[in-house]
Amino acid sequence: MTFRTRRWVRPEDLNPNGTLFGGSLLKWIDEEAAIYAILQLGNDHVVTKYMSEINFVASARQGDLVEMGLRAVHFGRTSLTMRAEVRNMITKDKILTIDRIVFVNVGDDGRPAPHGYSEITLTRDRIPARLSR
Ligand SMILES: CC(C)(COP(=O)(O)OP(=O)(O)OC[C@H]1O[C@@H](n2cnc3c(N)ncnc32)[C@H](O)[C@@H]1OP(=O)(O)O)[C@@H](O)C(=O)NCCC(=O)NCCS
Repeated sequence: MTFRTRRWVRPEDLNPNGTLFGGSLLKWIDEEAAIYAILQLGNDHVVTKYMSEINFVASARQGDLVEMGLRAVHFGRTSLTMRAEVRNMITKDKILTIDRIVFVNVGDDGRPAPHGYSEITLTRDRIPARLSR
């Protein structure tokens, strides 16, 4: 599991109880997973297909720092399945786990397209050509 992105819990991320709003967390994770999928599949046309049970293990408070981790667990023909974990850098608590987030690689027609990969890359060798300048 590689933890890359960190977020600072700000007032706009809180629920009425004064703790981190689950919707904010899911938005961050979905974007993190999209970027992960783009860089693994070499295509910026990827879409969220499925998320398994989301386990909100602990909360976070305003001012806490949280970090998000993802790992590819399965390369399908057109899909990529990832596992996600978010932890609180201050309390060291695990905040959230998602066992399976599935993204699908799509073509220009929006239909699933084979991505041709079967293993994780740890370098930046799959940056989509259309994003390159
Ligand atoms: C993503 C989308 C193009 C897939 O279309 P589809 O007809 O379901 O495609 P397929 O049945 O060929 O499945 C494509 C891949 O997704 C996987 N898949 C489909 N349904 C799945 C499910 N419920 N859970 C996990 N994986 C699933 C398939 O196993 C396949 O993977 P593989 O090729 O690696 O074996 C279509 O469902 C779609 O456009 N969904 C909306 C996506 C979106 O807008 N997301 C963001 C907003 S929430």
